[in-house]
Amino acid sequence: MTKLFLIGMMGSGKSYWAEKLKKKLKIPAYDLDALIEMMEEKTVAEIFEEDGEEYFRKAEAKMLRLFAEKKQFILSCGGGTACYHDNMKWMNKQGITIWLDEPVETLAVRLSKEKSQRPLIKNLNNTELKDFLNEKLEERQAFYNQAAYRLNEKELNENAFSKILKEYA
Ligand code: S3P
Repeated sequence: MTKLFLIGMMGSGKSYWAEKLKKKLKIPAYDLDALIEMMEEKTVAEIFEEDGEEYFRKAEAKMLRLFAEKKQFILSCGGGTACYHDNMKWMNKQGITIWLDEPVETLAVRLSKEKSQRPLIKNLNNTELKDFLNEKLEERQAFYNQAAYRLNEKELNENAFSKILKEYA
Protein backbone atom coordinates (compact mmCIF):
# COMPACT_ATOMS: atom_id res chain seq x y z
CA MET A 1 0.00 0.00 0.00
CA THR A 2 1.55 3.30 -1.08
CA LYS A 3 -0.22 6.46 -0.08
CA LEU A 4 1.97 9.45 -0.65
CA PHE A 5 0.90 12.97 0.27
CA LEU A 6 3.10 15.71 -1.16
CA ILE A 7 2.79 18.91 0.81
CA GLY A 8 4.53 22.28 0.85
CA MET A 9 4.26 25.83 -0.37
CA MET A 10 2.88 26.94 -3.70
CA GLY A 11 5.55 26.46 -6.33
CA SER A 12 7.47 23.82 -4.37
CA GLY A 13 6.99 21.28 -7.18
CA LYS A 14 4.27 19.07 -5.69
CA SER A 15 2.53 18.50 -9.03
CA TYR A 16 5.84 18.07 -10.86
CA TRP A 17 7.02 15.39 -8.44
CA ALA A 18 3.64 13.64 -8.37
CA GLU A 19 3.80 13.23 -12.16
CA LYS A 20 7.41 12.08 -12.05
CA LEU A 21 6.75 9.53 -9.32
CA LYS A 22 3.66 8.29 -11.08
CA LYS A 23 5.83 7.18 -14.00
CA LYS A 24 8.50 5.71 -11.77
CA LEU A 25 6.21 3.85 -9.36
CA LYS A 26 3.44 3.13 -11.86
CA ILE A 27 0.73 4.15 -9.45
CA PRO A 28 -1.88 6.85 -10.03
CA ALA A 29 -1.17 10.47 -9.25
CA TYR A 30 -3.84 13.02 -8.38
CA ASP A 31 -3.85 16.75 -7.93
CA LEU A 32 -6.14 17.91 -5.13
CA ASP A 33 -6.75 21.36 -6.67
CA ALA A 34 -7.66 19.79 -10.01
CA LEU A 35 -10.14 17.43 -8.33
CA ILE A 36 -11.78 20.31 -6.46
CA GLU A 37 -12.05 22.24 -9.73
CA MET A 38 -13.74 19.24 -11.33
CA MET A 39 -16.17 18.81 -8.45
CA GLU A 40 -17.04 22.50 -8.26
CA GLU A 41 -16.90 23.06 -12.02
CA LYS A 42 -14.89 26.24 -11.38
CA THR A 43 -11.22 27.14 -11.20
CA VAL A 44 -9.62 27.53 -7.77
CA ALA A 45 -9.34 31.25 -8.52
CA GLU A 46 -13.09 31.43 -9.21
CA ILE A 47 -13.94 29.50 -6.04
CA PHE A 48 -11.86 31.92 -3.95
CA GLU A 49 -13.49 34.89 -5.67
CA GLU A 50 -17.08 33.73 -5.69
CA ASP A 51 -17.36 31.50 -2.62
CA GLY A 52 -14.45 32.60 -0.44
CA GLU A 53 -11.46 30.84 1.07
CA GLU A 54 -13.43 29.23 3.90
CA TYR A 55 -15.66 27.46 1.40
CA PHE A 56 -12.60 26.34 -0.54
CA ARG A 57 -10.95 24.93 2.60
CA LYS A 58 -14.08 22.90 3.38
CA ALA A 59 -14.24 21.52 -0.16
CA GLU A 60 -10.52 20.74 0.06
CA ALA A 61 -10.88 18.82 3.35
CA LYS A 62 -13.85 16.91 1.94
CA MET A 63 -12.04 15.96 -1.25
CA LEU A 64 -8.98 14.91 0.73
CA ARG A 65 -11.03 12.54 2.90
CA LEU A 66 -12.22 10.68 -0.22
CA PHE A 67 -8.69 9.28 -0.41
CA ALA A 68 -9.46 7.07 2.58
CA GLU A 69 -10.97 4.67 0.03
CA LYS A 70 -7.92 4.49 -2.21
CA LYS A 71 -5.04 2.11 -1.63
CA GLN A 72 -2.31 3.38 -3.97
CA PHE A 73 -1.72 6.94 -4.95
CA ILE A 74 0.48 9.97 -4.99
CA LEU A 75 -1.47 13.06 -4.08
CA SER A 76 -0.23 16.51 -4.85
CA CYS A 77 -1.89 18.71 -2.21
CA GLY A 78 -2.50 22.45 -2.33
CA GLY A 79 -0.14 24.75 -0.47
CA GLY A 80 -2.64 25.29 2.34
CA THR A 81 -4.00 21.75 2.61
CA ALA A 82 -1.77 20.83 5.55
CA CYS A 83 -2.97 23.80 7.59
CA TYR A 84 -6.74 23.43 7.83
CA HIS A 85 -9.37 21.10 9.25
CA ASP A 86 -6.87 18.75 10.92
CA ASN A 87 -5.78 17.61 7.47
CA MET A 88 -2.19 17.04 8.54
CA LYS A 89 -3.23 14.70 11.33
CA TRP A 90 -5.54 12.87 8.96
CA MET A 91 -2.89 12.46 6.24
CA ASN A 92 -0.36 11.19 8.77
CA LYS A 93 -2.79 8.49 9.83
CA GLN A 94 -3.46 7.47 6.26
CA GLY A 95 -0.04 7.34 4.69
CA ILE A 96 3.32 9.00 4.13
CA THR A 97 3.52 12.77 4.18
CA ILE A 98 6.45 14.46 2.49
CA TRP A 99 7.19 18.17 2.77
CA LEU A 100 8.86 19.58 -0.33
CA ASP A 101 10.81 22.34 1.34
CA GLU A 102 12.14 24.61 -1.40
CA PRO A 103 13.56 28.00 -0.35
CA VAL A 104 11.42 31.11 -0.72
CA GLU A 105 13.85 32.53 -3.32
CA THR A 106 13.15 29.57 -5.61
CA LEU A 107 9.40 29.68 -4.98
CA ALA A 108 9.32 33.41 -5.76
CA VAL A 109 11.14 32.99 -9.09
CA ARG A 110 8.84 30.16 -10.17
CA LEU A 111 5.65 31.84 -9.01
CA SER A 112 6.42 35.25 -10.49
CA LYS A 113 5.90 33.62 -13.90
CA GLU A 114 2.52 32.10 -13.11
CA LYS A 115 0.68 34.29 -10.66
CA SER A 116 -2.58 34.83 -12.51
CA GLN A 117 -4.16 31.47 -11.69
CA ARG A 118 -3.20 31.65 -8.01
CA PRO A 119 -5.74 33.69 -6.09
CA LEU A 120 -3.56 34.40 -3.06
CA ILE A 121 -0.75 36.01 -5.04
CA LYS A 122 -2.16 37.24 -8.31
CA ASN A 123 -2.16 40.94 -7.34
CA LEU A 124 1.31 41.04 -5.79
CA ASN A 125 4.45 42.52 -7.33
CA ASN A 126 7.71 40.62 -6.95
CA THR A 127 8.77 42.25 -3.67
CA GLU A 128 5.32 41.74 -2.18
CA LEU A 129 5.36 38.16 -3.41
CA LYS A 130 8.56 37.39 -1.55
CA ASP A 131 7.25 39.03 1.64
CA PHE A 132 4.01 37.11 1.32
CA LEU A 133 5.83 33.79 0.87
CA ASN A 134 8.06 34.43 3.88
CA GLU A 135 5.04 35.27 6.01
CA LYS A 136 3.06 32.25 4.84
CA LEU A 137 5.96 29.92 5.36
CA GLU A 138 6.38 31.17 8.90
CA GLU A 139 2.68 30.65 9.57
CA ARG A 140 2.63 27.22 7.99
CA GLN A 141 5.90 25.79 9.16
CA ALA A 142 4.33 24.28 12.29
CA PHE A 143 2.02 22.25 10.07
CA TYR A 144 4.55 21.32 7.41
CA ASN A 145 6.90 20.24 10.18
CA GLN A 146 4.49 17.48 11.12
CA ALA A 147 5.27 15.71 7.85
CA ALA A 148 6.93 12.32 8.19
CA TYR A 149 9.67 13.48 5.79
CA ARG A 150 11.10 16.81 4.80
CA LEU A 151 13.13 17.16 1.62
CA ASN A 152 15.01 20.39 1.09
CA GLU A 153 16.29 21.65 -2.27
CA LYS A 154 19.46 19.57 -2.07
CA GLU A 155 17.63 16.40 -1.09
CA LEU A 156 14.82 16.68 -3.62
CA ASN A 157 15.60 13.99 -6.18
CA GLU A 158 14.27 10.59 -7.25
CA ASN A 159 16.64 8.73 -4.96
CA ALA A 160 15.26 10.47 -1.91
CA PHE A 161 11.77 9.26 -2.74
CA SER A 162 13.02 5.71 -3.45
CA LYS A 163 14.73 5.67 -0.07
CA ILE A 164 11.58 6.77 1.72
CA LEU A 165 9.53 4.14 -0.07
CA LYS A 166 12.02 1.41 0.76
CA GLU A 167 11.54 2.17 4.43
CA TYR A 168 7.88 1.34 3.99
CA ALA A 169 8.24 -1.68 1.70
C1 S3P B 1 -2.99 27.61 -1.96
C2 S3P B 1 -2.25 26.92 -2.88
C3 S3P B 1 -2.83 26.44 -4.15
C4 S3P B 1 -4.35 26.31 -4.08
C5 S3P B 1 -4.95 27.56 -3.55
C6 S3P B 1 -4.43 27.92 -2.15
C7 S3P B 1 -2.35 28.04 -0.69
O1 S3P B 1 -2.24 25.19 -4.47
O2 S3P B 1 -4.72 25.21 -3.29
O3 S3P B 1 -4.68 28.57 -4.46
O4 S3P B 1 -3.07 28.36 0.27
O5 S3P B 1 -1.09 28.01 -0.62
P1 S3P B 1 -0.74 25.01 -5.06
O6 S3P B 1 0.19 24.92 -3.89
O7 S3P B 1 -0.83 23.74 -5.81
O8 S3P B 1 -0.48 26.19 -5.92
